[in-house]
Amino acid sequence: MKVSVATMDIKKIKAEAMVISLFEKEGTGGYKDFDKAARGLIADLVKKGNFKGKAGESLFLLPSPEIYPKRILLLGLGEKEKYTLDKMRQASAKAGQEMRSRGIKTFAMQAPGSDALKEDNKRKGQAIAEGLILGLYQFEEYKTEKKEDKMIDKVVIAARDEREAREVKKGIELGRVLAEAANFTRDLVNRPSNDKTPIMLSDEARRMAGRFGLSCEILNEAAIKRLKMGGLLGVAKGSKEPPRFIILGHNKNAKNLDTIVIIGKAITFDSGGISIKPSENMEKMKYDMSGGAAVMGAMQAAARLKIPLRIIGLIPAAENLPSGAAQKPGDIVRMHDGKTVEIISTDAEGRMILGDALSYAKSYKPKAVIDLATLTGACVIALGNDAIGMMGTDDKLKDKVKEAGELSYERVWELPLWEEYGELIKSDIADIKNVGGRPAGTITGGYFLSRFIEKTQWVHLDIAGTAWEEKGRPYKPKGATGVGIRLLSELFINW
Ligand code: BES
Ligand code: MN
Ligand code: ZN
Repeated sequence: MKVSVATMDIKKIKAEAMVISLFEKEGTGGYKDFDKAARGLIADLVKKGNFKGKAGESLFLLPSPEIYPKRILLLGLGEKEKYTLDKMRQASAKAGQEMRSRGIKTFAMQAPGSDALKEDNKRKGQAIAEGLILGLYQFEEYKTEKKEDKMIDKVVIAARDEREAREVKKGIELGRVLAEAANFTRDLVNRPSNDKTPIMLSDEARRMAGRFGLSCEILNEAAIKRLKMGGLLGVAKGSKEPPRFIILGHNKNAKNLDTIVIIGKAITFDSGGISIKPSENMEKMKYDMSGGAAVMGAMQAAARLKIPLRIIGLIPAAENLPSGAAQKPGDIVRMHDGKTVEIISTDAEGRMILGDALSYAKSYKPKAVIDLATLTGACVIALGNDAIGMMGTDDKLKDKVKEAGELSYERVWELPLWEEYGELIKSDIADIKNVGGRPAGTITGGYFLSRFIEKTQWVHLDIAGTAWEEKGRPYKPKGATGVGIRLLSELFINW
Protein backbone atom coordinates (compact mmCIF):
# COMPACT_ATOMS: atom_id res chain seq x y z
CA MET A 1 0.00 0.00 0.00
CA LYS A 2 1.37 3.36 -1.06
CA VAL A 3 0.77 6.39 1.16
CA SER A 4 1.57 9.64 -0.62
CA VAL A 5 1.09 13.34 0.04
CA ALA A 6 -0.38 15.86 -2.40
CA THR A 7 -0.69 19.63 -2.07
CA MET A 8 -3.70 19.77 -4.34
CA ASP A 9 -7.15 20.84 -3.22
CA ILE A 10 -8.68 17.64 -1.95
CA LYS A 11 -11.51 17.95 -4.49
CA LYS A 12 -8.98 17.61 -7.30
CA ILE A 13 -7.23 14.49 -6.08
CA LYS A 14 -8.02 11.55 -8.33
CA ALA A 15 -9.23 8.73 -6.13
CA GLU A 16 -12.17 6.38 -5.98
CA ALA A 17 -13.25 7.75 -2.64
CA MET A 18 -12.62 10.42 -0.08
CA VAL A 19 -12.70 10.63 3.70
CA ILE A 20 -14.44 13.53 5.44
CA SER A 21 -13.77 13.45 9.16
CA LEU A 22 -15.90 15.51 11.51
CA PHE A 23 -15.95 16.30 15.20
CA GLU A 24 -19.10 16.14 17.27
CA LYS A 25 -21.17 19.34 17.28
CA GLU A 26 -18.94 20.97 14.67
CA GLY A 27 -21.25 20.93 11.69
CA THR A 28 -19.21 20.52 8.51
CA GLY A 29 -16.08 21.71 10.36
CA GLY A 30 -13.22 22.38 7.97
CA TYR A 31 -15.14 20.99 5.01
CA LYS A 32 -17.46 23.97 4.36
CA ASP A 33 -16.05 24.67 0.89
CA PHE A 34 -16.11 21.08 -0.06
CA ASP A 35 -19.66 20.72 1.14
CA LYS A 36 -20.73 23.70 -0.91
CA ALA A 37 -19.39 21.96 -4.01
CA ALA A 38 -21.27 18.87 -2.88
CA ARG A 39 -24.47 20.96 -2.67
CA GLY A 40 -24.75 20.92 1.11
CA LEU A 41 -25.03 17.16 1.23
CA ILE A 42 -23.06 16.79 4.47
CA ALA A 43 -24.51 19.83 6.24
CA ASP A 44 -27.90 18.33 5.58
CA LEU A 45 -27.01 14.95 7.07
CA VAL A 46 -25.53 16.59 10.15
CA LYS A 47 -28.50 18.91 10.59
CA LYS A 48 -30.97 16.07 10.39
CA GLY A 49 -28.97 14.11 12.96
CA ASN A 50 -28.06 11.30 10.54
CA PHE A 51 -24.41 11.82 11.30
CA LYS A 52 -23.31 12.95 14.75
CA GLY A 53 -19.53 12.78 14.54
CA LYS A 54 -19.19 10.41 17.48
CA ALA A 55 -15.82 8.67 17.80
CA GLY A 56 -15.79 5.56 15.65
CA GLU A 57 -19.00 6.52 13.80
CA SER A 58 -18.92 6.15 10.03
CA LEU A 59 -21.30 6.65 7.15
CA PHE A 60 -20.63 5.73 3.55
CA LEU A 61 -22.21 7.95 0.90
CA LEU A 62 -22.76 7.56 -2.81
CA PRO A 63 -23.55 11.14 -3.87
CA SER A 64 -25.42 11.98 -7.08
CA PRO A 65 -23.27 11.48 -10.20
CA GLU A 66 -22.34 15.11 -10.88
CA ILE A 67 -20.62 15.39 -7.51
CA TYR A 68 -16.96 14.43 -7.25
CA PRO A 69 -15.84 12.14 -5.65
CA LYS A 70 -18.21 9.31 -6.35
CA ARG A 71 -17.87 7.93 -2.86
CA ILE A 72 -17.52 9.67 0.48
CA LEU A 73 -16.78 8.18 3.85
CA LEU A 74 -17.94 10.30 6.76
CA LEU A 75 -15.86 9.56 9.81
CA GLY A 76 -16.67 10.65 13.37
CA LEU A 77 -13.82 11.94 15.54
CA GLY A 78 -15.70 12.48 18.81
CA GLU A 79 -15.33 15.56 21.00
CA LYS A 80 -12.81 18.07 19.74
CA GLU A 81 -11.54 18.86 23.27
CA LYS A 82 -10.71 15.22 23.88
CA TYR A 83 -8.97 14.65 20.58
CA THR A 84 -5.42 13.27 20.68
CA LEU A 85 -2.74 12.03 18.36
CA ASP A 86 -3.72 8.47 19.21
CA LYS A 87 -7.28 9.22 18.15
CA MET A 88 -5.85 10.37 14.82
CA ARG A 89 -4.08 7.01 14.60
CA GLN A 90 -7.38 5.27 15.36
CA ALA A 91 -9.34 7.38 12.86
CA SER A 92 -6.82 6.60 10.12
CA ALA A 93 -7.11 2.90 10.89
CA LYS A 94 -10.88 3.08 10.78
CA ALA A 95 -10.79 4.96 7.45
CA GLY A 96 -8.60 2.27 5.91
CA GLN A 97 -10.75 -0.56 7.22
CA GLU A 98 -14.03 0.98 6.08
CA MET A 99 -12.62 1.60 2.60
CA ARG A 100 -11.18 -1.89 2.32
CA SER A 101 -14.41 -3.53 3.40
CA ARG A 102 -16.07 -1.81 0.45
CA GLY A 103 -13.49 -2.97 -2.05
CA ILE A 104 -12.02 0.48 -2.59
CA LYS A 105 -8.43 0.57 -3.87
CA THR A 106 -7.51 4.24 -3.72
CA PHE A 107 -8.76 7.01 -1.49
CA ALA A 108 -7.85 10.52 -0.43
CA MET A 109 -8.08 12.20 2.94
CA GLN A 110 -6.88 15.16 4.95
CA ALA A 111 -5.14 14.40 8.22
CA PRO A 112 -8.21 13.60 10.35
CA GLY A 113 -8.91 16.35 12.90
CA SER A 114 -5.46 17.85 12.34
CA ASP A 115 -6.33 21.39 13.44
CA ALA A 116 -7.29 20.25 16.93
CA LEU A 117 -3.77 18.95 17.62
CA LYS A 118 -0.64 20.87 18.59
CA GLU A 119 1.77 18.14 17.51
CA ASP A 120 3.98 18.88 14.51
CA ASN A 121 3.21 17.69 11.00
CA LYS A 122 5.79 14.95 11.10
CA ARG A 123 4.16 13.36 14.13
CA LYS A 124 0.80 13.61 12.43
CA GLY A 125 2.08 11.94 9.28
CA GLN A 126 3.60 9.23 11.43
CA ALA A 127 0.33 8.61 13.27
CA ILE A 128 -1.59 8.39 10.00
CA ALA A 129 0.79 5.85 8.48
CA GLU A 130 0.86 3.82 11.68
CA GLY A 131 -2.93 3.84 11.88
CA LEU A 132 -3.34 2.77 8.27
CA ILE A 133 -0.66 0.07 8.19
CA LEU A 134 -1.35 -1.35 11.66
CA GLY A 135 -5.10 -1.11 11.14
CA LEU A 136 -5.11 -2.95 7.82
CA TYR A 137 -3.02 -5.83 9.17
CA GLN A 138 -4.47 -9.28 8.60
CA PHE A 139 -2.98 -12.63 9.52
CA GLU A 140 -3.67 -14.88 6.57
CA GLU A 141 -0.82 -17.42 6.58
CA TYR A 142 -3.21 -20.24 7.38
CA LYS A 143 -6.22 -19.20 5.30
CA THR A 144 -6.46 -21.31 2.18
CA GLU A 145 -8.38 -18.54 0.47
CA LYS A 146 -6.62 -15.24 0.88
CA LYS A 147 -8.39 -11.92 1.12
CA GLU A 148 -5.31 -10.13 -0.21
CA ASP A 149 -6.93 -8.96 -3.43
CA LYS A 150 -9.00 -6.66 -1.28
CA MET A 151 -5.95 -4.74 -0.15
CA ILE A 152 -5.88 -0.98 -0.62
CA ASP A 153 -3.32 0.14 -3.23
CA LYS A 154 -2.97 3.81 -2.49
CA VAL A 155 -3.91 6.49 0.01
CA VAL A 156 -3.31 10.16 -0.81
CA ILE A 157 -3.02 12.59 2.08
CA ALA A 158 -3.94 16.16 1.22
CA ALA A 159 -1.60 18.84 2.58
CA ARG A 160 -2.07 22.64 2.52
CA ASP A 161 1.35 23.57 1.17
CA GLU A 162 4.74 22.21 0.17
CA ARG A 163 6.25 22.57 3.62
CA GLU A 164 3.44 20.72 5.31
CA ALA A 165 3.63 18.06 2.60
CA ARG A 166 7.35 17.59 3.20
CA GLU A 167 6.92 17.25 6.95
CA VAL A 168 3.95 14.90 6.71
CA LYS A 169 5.87 12.79 4.24
CA LYS A 170 8.80 12.41 6.63
CA GLY A 171 6.38 11.24 9.29
CA ILE A 172 4.76 8.78 6.92
CA GLU A 173 8.15 7.24 6.13
CA LEU A 174 8.92 6.79 9.81
CA GLY A 175 5.44 5.51 10.62
CA ARG A 176 5.70 2.99 7.82
CA VAL A 177 8.95 1.52 9.13
CA LEU A 178 7.58 1.20 12.67
CA ALA A 179 4.23 -0.25 11.61
CA GLU A 180 5.80 -2.73 9.20
CA ALA A 181 8.19 -3.89 11.90
CA ALA A 182 5.26 -4.30 14.30
CA ASN A 183 3.35 -6.28 11.66
CA PHE A 184 6.38 -8.52 11.18
CA THR A 185 6.30 -9.17 14.93
CA ARG A 186 2.55 -9.79 14.81
CA ASP A 187 3.04 -12.48 12.16
CA LEU A 188 5.52 -14.31 14.37
CA VAL A 189 3.33 -14.10 17.46
CA ASN A 190 0.13 -15.12 15.69
CA ARG A 191 1.82 -18.13 14.14
CA PRO A 192 1.12 -21.42 15.98
CA SER A 193 3.87 -22.92 18.09
CA ASN A 194 4.27 -25.98 15.84
CA ASP A 195 5.56 -23.57 13.19
CA LYS A 196 7.80 -21.46 15.39
CA THR A 197 9.93 -23.79 17.46
CA PRO A 198 13.11 -22.22 18.86
CA ILE A 199 14.98 -23.48 15.79
CA MET A 200 12.39 -22.09 13.38
CA LEU A 201 12.40 -18.80 15.26
CA SER A 202 16.17 -18.57 14.96
CA ASP A 203 15.93 -19.32 11.23
CA GLU A 204 13.44 -16.48 10.97
CA ALA A 205 15.82 -14.19 12.89
CA ARG A 206 18.69 -15.06 10.57
CA ARG A 207 16.60 -14.40 7.46
CA MET A 208 15.36 -11.08 8.83
CA ALA A 209 18.87 -10.05 9.87
CA GLY A 210 20.21 -10.82 6.39
CA ARG A 211 17.47 -8.79 4.78
CA PHE A 212 18.01 -5.67 6.92
CA GLY A 213 21.77 -5.80 7.46
CA LEU A 214 21.84 -6.86 11.10
CA SER A 215 24.42 -9.25 12.48
CA CYS A 216 23.02 -12.52 13.74
CA GLU A 217 24.56 -15.24 15.85
CA ILE A 218 22.58 -18.29 16.96
CA LEU A 219 23.82 -20.26 19.96
CA ASN A 220 22.80 -23.92 19.84
CA GLU A 221 22.39 -26.23 22.83
CA ALA A 222 26.10 -27.05 23.04
CA ALA A 223 27.01 -23.35 23.09
CA ILE A 224 24.33 -22.64 25.67
CA LYS A 225 25.79 -25.43 27.82
CA ARG A 226 29.27 -23.98 27.48
CA LEU A 227 27.89 -20.66 28.75
CA LYS A 228 26.34 -22.50 31.71
CA MET A 229 22.92 -21.02 31.14
CA GLY A 230 21.21 -23.38 33.56
CA GLY A 231 17.94 -21.46 33.57
CA LEU A 232 17.40 -21.75 29.82
CA LEU A 233 18.60 -25.37 29.70
CA GLY A 234 16.33 -26.34 32.59
CA VAL A 235 13.22 -24.90 30.95
CA ALA A 236 14.01 -26.58 27.62
CA LYS A 237 14.56 -30.02 29.17
CA GLY A 238 10.94 -31.11 28.95
CA SER A 239 10.69 -30.58 25.19
CA LYS A 240 12.13 -32.46 22.25
CA GLU A 241 12.75 -29.06 20.70
CA PRO A 242 16.20 -27.83 21.77
CA PRO A 243 16.62 -24.23 22.97
CA ARG A 244 18.33 -21.47 21.05
CA PHE A 245 19.92 -18.20 22.14
CA ILE A 246 19.58 -15.60 19.38
CA ILE A 247 21.92 -12.60 19.28
CA LEU A 248 21.11 -9.79 16.86
CA GLY A 249 23.35 -6.78 16.43
CA HIS A 250 22.94 -3.31 14.93
CA ASN A 251 26.25 -1.40 14.58
CA LYS A 252 27.69 -4.33 16.50
CA ASN A 253 31.32 -3.30 16.09
CA ALA A 254 30.87 0.44 16.60
CA LYS A 255 32.07 0.44 20.18
CA ASN A 256 32.28 4.24 20.17
CA LEU A 257 28.47 4.43 20.15
CA ASP A 258 26.32 4.03 23.27
CA THR A 259 25.31 0.40 23.68
CA ILE A 260 21.77 -0.62 24.48
CA VAL A 261 20.86 -4.27 25.02
CA ILE A 262 17.25 -5.31 24.51
CA ILE A 263 16.16 -8.74 25.69
CA GLY A 264 12.95 -10.57 24.87
CA LYS A 265 11.39 -13.66 26.39
CA ALA A 266 10.70 -16.25 23.69
CA ILE A 267 8.86 -19.20 25.17
CA THR A 268 7.43 -20.54 21.92
CA PHE A 269 4.78 -22.38 23.93
CA ASP A 270 4.16 -22.23 27.67
CA SER A 271 2.20 -25.22 28.93
CA GLY A 272 3.53 -24.53 32.42
CA GLY A 273 5.68 -27.67 32.30
CA ILE A 274 5.20 -30.13 35.19
CA SER A 275 3.37 -27.30 37.01
CA ILE A 276 0.95 -27.57 34.13
CA LYS A 277 -1.57 -24.85 33.34
CA PRO A 278 -5.34 -25.43 33.14
CA SER A 279 -6.35 -26.39 29.59
CA GLU A 280 -8.79 -23.52 29.20
CA ASN A 281 -7.10 -20.77 27.13
CA MET A 282 -3.86 -22.71 27.01
CA GLU A 283 -3.80 -22.30 23.22
CA LYS A 284 -3.07 -18.62 23.79
CA MET A 285 0.29 -19.48 25.34
CA LYS A 286 1.80 -19.42 21.85
CA TYR A 287 2.06 -15.68 22.49
CA ASP A 288 4.58 -16.26 25.26
CA MET A 289 7.32 -15.36 22.77
CA SER A 290 5.96 -11.83 22.27
CA GLY A 291 8.95 -10.24 24.01
CA GLY A 292 11.41 -12.06 21.76
CA ALA A 293 9.39 -11.22 18.66
CA ALA A 294 9.27 -7.56 19.77
CA VAL A 295 13.05 -7.54 20.02
CA MET A 296 13.26 -8.89 16.47
CA GLY A 297 10.87 -6.17 15.26
CA ALA A 298 12.67 -3.40 17.12
CA MET A 299 16.04 -4.51 15.72
CA GLN A 300 14.56 -4.43 12.22
CA ALA A 301 13.25 -0.89 12.80
CA ALA A 302 16.62 0.24 14.24
CA ALA A 303 18.39 -1.05 11.13
CA ARG A 304 15.96 0.57 8.69
CA LEU A 305 16.15 3.88 10.57
CA LYS A 306 19.96 3.71 10.82
CA ILE A 307 19.76 4.55 14.53
CA PRO A 308 23.17 5.89 15.65
CA LEU A 309 23.45 3.51 18.59
CA ARG A 310 25.01 0.12 19.09
CA ILE A 311 22.00 -2.08 19.78
CA ILE A 312 22.19 -5.73 20.76
CA GLY A 313 19.10 -7.94 20.81
CA LEU A 314 19.17 -11.06 22.96
CA ILE A 315 16.44 -13.67 22.60
CA PRO A 316 16.52 -16.82 24.75
CA ALA A 317 14.10 -19.26 23.10
CA ALA A 318 12.66 -22.51 24.45
CA GLU A 319 9.47 -24.52 24.67
CA ASN A 320 8.07 -25.21 28.16
CA LEU A 321 6.55 -28.70 28.18
CA PRO A 322 6.08 -31.51 30.69
CA SER A 323 7.67 -34.90 29.98
CA GLY A 324 9.76 -37.61 31.56
CA ALA A 325 12.79 -35.42 31.00
CA ALA A 326 11.28 -32.17 32.27
CA GLN A 327 12.57 -30.22 35.22
CA LYS A 328 10.47 -30.56 38.35
CA PRO A 329 9.31 -28.42 41.24
CA GLY A 330 12.01 -28.58 43.89
CA ASP A 331 14.83 -28.91 41.37
CA ILE A 332 17.71 -26.50 41.81
CA VAL A 333 19.58 -25.09 38.81
CA ARG A 334 22.70 -22.99 38.54
CA MET A 335 22.31 -19.89 36.40
CA HIS A 336 24.80 -18.28 33.99
CA ASP A 337 26.04 -15.92 36.73
CA GLY A 338 26.57 -18.82 39.14
CA LYS A 339 23.53 -18.20 41.34
CA THR A 340 21.40 -21.18 42.35
CA VAL A 341 17.63 -21.09 41.93
CA GLU A 342 15.11 -23.39 43.55
CA ILE A 343 12.31 -24.10 41.11
CA ILE A 344 9.05 -23.79 43.02
CA SER A 345 6.94 -23.71 39.87
CA THR A 346 8.09 -24.81 36.44
CA ASP A 347 5.49 -22.35 35.18
CA ALA A 348 7.65 -19.43 36.33
CA GLU A 349 9.95 -20.19 33.39
CA GLY A 350 10.25 -16.76 31.81
CA ARG A 351 12.38 -15.38 34.63
CA MET A 352 14.66 -18.42 34.36
CA ILE A 353 15.56 -17.84 30.73
CA LEU A 354 15.71 -14.05 31.23
CA GLY A 355 17.97 -14.34 34.27
CA ASP A 356 20.57 -16.02 32.09
CA ALA A 357 20.16 -13.43 29.33
CA LEU A 358 20.37 -10.47 31.74
CA SER A 359 23.59 -11.72 33.21
CA TYR A 360 24.99 -12.45 29.74
CA ALA A 361 24.10 -8.88 28.69
CA LYS A 362 26.82 -7.48 30.98
CA SER A 363 29.49 -8.67 28.56
CA TYR A 364 28.43 -5.88 26.17
CA LYS A 365 29.06 -3.15 28.79
CA PRO A 366 25.70 -1.54 27.99
CA LYS A 367 24.51 1.96 28.92
CA ALA A 368 21.06 0.44 29.32
CA VAL A 369 19.39 -2.95 29.38
CA ILE A 370 15.68 -3.28 28.65
CA ASP A 371 13.82 -6.57 28.76
CA LEU A 372 10.33 -7.29 27.46
CA ALA A 373 8.39 -10.32 28.59
CA THR A 374 4.92 -11.77 28.94
CA LEU A 375 6.08 -12.56 32.43
CA THR A 376 3.09 -12.72 34.75
CA GLY A 377 -0.65 -13.32 34.69
CA ALA A 378 -0.71 -11.01 37.70
CA CYS A 379 0.22 -8.09 35.41
CA VAL A 380 -2.98 -8.66 33.44
CA ILE A 381 -4.94 -8.59 36.70
CA ALA A 382 -3.20 -5.46 38.00
CA LEU A 383 -3.06 -3.31 34.86
CA GLY A 384 -5.39 -4.91 32.30
CA ASN A 385 -4.67 -4.44 28.61
CA ASP A 386 -3.80 -0.75 28.48
CA ALA A 387 -0.57 -0.49 30.41
CA ILE A 388 2.78 -2.21 30.32
CA GLY A 389 4.07 -3.00 33.82
CA MET A 390 7.42 -1.26 34.31
CA MET A 391 10.08 -1.83 36.95
CA GLY A 392 13.68 -0.76 36.94
CA THR A 393 16.79 0.37 38.71
CA ASP A 394 17.42 3.79 37.23
CA ASP A 395 15.15 6.84 37.36
CA LYS A 396 16.59 8.50 34.25
CA LEU A 397 16.10 5.40 32.14
CA LYS A 398 12.61 4.89 33.54
CA ASP A 399 11.74 8.48 32.60
CA LYS A 400 13.00 7.92 29.07
CA VAL A 401 10.92 4.76 28.75
CA LYS A 402 7.85 6.56 30.14
CA GLU A 403 8.24 9.31 27.58
CA ALA A 404 8.64 6.82 24.73
CA GLY A 405 5.54 5.09 26.06
CA GLU A 406 3.49 8.28 25.84
CA LEU A 407 4.74 9.11 22.33
CA SER A 408 3.99 5.65 20.99
CA TYR A 409 0.87 5.31 23.13
CA GLU A 410 2.34 2.02 24.33
CA ARG A 411 2.10 3.39 27.82
CA VAL A 412 3.94 2.06 30.84
CA TRP A 413 3.00 2.15 34.50
CA GLU A 414 5.60 1.76 37.17
CA LEU A 415 5.47 -0.74 40.01
CA PRO A 416 7.90 -0.57 42.97
CA LEU A 417 10.97 -2.75 43.34
CA TRP A 418 11.56 -2.10 47.04
CA GLU A 419 14.02 -4.41 48.71
CA GLU A 420 11.29 -5.68 51.03
CA TYR A 421 9.91 -7.65 48.08
CA GLY A 422 13.17 -9.58 48.03
CA GLU A 423 12.05 -11.38 51.19
CA LEU A 424 9.39 -13.16 49.17
CA ILE A 425 11.87 -14.97 46.92
CA LYS A 426 14.34 -16.10 49.58
CA SER A 427 14.94 -19.84 49.48
CA ASP A 428 15.85 -22.04 52.44
CA ILE A 429 18.33 -24.11 50.49
CA ALA A 430 19.28 -22.18 47.32
CA ASP A 431 20.28 -18.55 46.70
CA ILE A 432 16.74 -17.64 45.58
CA LYS A 433 13.54 -19.34 44.51
CA ASN A 434 11.61 -18.65 41.32
CA VAL A 435 8.20 -17.90 42.88
CA GLY A 436 7.25 -15.55 45.70
CA GLY A 437 3.71 -16.72 46.33
CA ARG A 438 0.47 -14.99 45.31
CA PRO A 439 1.07 -11.44 46.60
CA ALA A 440 2.64 -8.90 44.24
CA GLY A 441 3.16 -11.50 41.51
CA THR A 442 4.35 -9.02 38.89
CA ILE A 443 6.76 -7.34 41.29
CA THR A 444 8.33 -10.54 42.58
CA GLY A 445 8.85 -11.53 38.93
CA GLY A 446 10.60 -8.21 38.33
CA TYR A 447 12.52 -8.51 41.57
CA PHE A 448 13.78 -11.95 40.58
CA LEU A 449 15.13 -10.46 37.35
CA SER A 450 16.80 -7.59 39.21
CA ARG A 451 18.97 -10.15 40.98
CA PHE A 452 20.74 -10.79 37.67
CA ILE A 453 21.53 -7.12 37.16
CA GLU A 454 24.38 -5.48 39.03
CA LYS A 455 25.10 -1.84 38.30
CA THR A 456 23.66 -1.56 34.83
CA GLN A 457 20.76 0.80 34.16
CA TRP A 458 17.90 -1.60 33.60
CA VAL A 459 14.17 -1.56 32.92
CA HIS A 460 11.85 -4.56 32.84
CA LEU A 461 8.61 -4.35 30.86
CA ASP A 462 5.88 -6.89 31.61
CA ILE A 463 3.81 -7.06 28.43
CA ALA A 464 1.53 -9.96 29.45
CA GLY A 465 -1.54 -7.71 29.28
CA THR A 466 -0.63 -5.68 26.20
CA ALA A 467 0.82 -8.19 23.74
CA TRP A 468 -2.51 -9.81 22.86
CA GLU A 469 -5.76 -8.11 21.86
CA GLU A 470 -8.88 -10.10 22.66
CA LYS A 471 -11.67 -8.09 21.00
CA GLY A 472 -10.01 -6.01 18.32
CA ARG A 473 -9.51 -2.22 18.41
CA PRO A 474 -9.04 0.28 15.58
CA TYR A 475 -5.35 -0.31 14.92
CA LYS A 476 -5.07 -3.50 16.94
CA PRO A 477 -6.92 -6.27 15.14
CA LYS A 478 -7.66 -9.37 17.24
CA GLY A 479 -4.53 -11.30 18.19
CA ALA A 480 -0.92 -10.19 18.48
CA THR A 481 -0.50 -6.43 18.94
CA GLY A 482 3.21 -6.08 18.20
CA VAL A 483 3.57 -4.04 21.38
CA GLY A 484 7.05 -2.75 22.18
CA ILE A 485 8.37 -1.99 18.71
CA ARG A 486 7.09 1.57 18.58
CA LEU A 487 7.99 2.21 22.20
CA LEU A 488 11.57 0.98 21.78
CA SER A 489 11.96 2.84 18.50
CA GLU A 490 10.87 6.16 20.04
CA LEU A 491 13.35 5.52 22.83
CA PHE A 492 16.16 4.89 20.32
CA ILE A 493 15.24 8.00 18.32
CA ASN A 494 15.26 10.23 21.42
CA TRP A 495 18.35 8.69 23.03
N1 BES B 1 3.67 -16.80 30.45
C1 BES B 1 3.15 -16.79 31.76
C2 BES B 1 2.52 -15.47 32.14
C3 BES B 1 1.25 -15.13 31.42
C4 BES B 1 0.03 -15.56 31.90
C5 BES B 1 1.29 -14.35 30.31
C6 BES B 1 -1.12 -15.21 31.25
C7 BES B 1 0.13 -14.00 29.65
C8 BES B 1 -1.07 -14.41 30.13
C9 BES B 1 4.27 -17.07 32.77
O1 BES B 1 5.25 -17.93 32.32
C10 BES B 1 3.64 -17.72 33.95
O2 BES B 1 3.12 -18.77 33.82
N2 BES B 1 3.68 -17.03 35.08
C11 BES B 1 3.12 -17.53 36.27
C12 BES B 1 4.05 -17.17 37.39
C13 BES B 1 3.72 -17.84 38.68
C14 BES B 1 3.93 -19.32 38.58
C15 BES B 1 4.59 -17.23 39.74
C16 BES B 1 1.75 -16.89 36.45
O3 BES B 1 1.58 -15.74 36.07
O4 BES B 1 0.86 -17.57 36.94
MN1 MN C 1 4.74 -19.95 32.61
ZN1 ZN D 1 5.54 -18.01 30.34
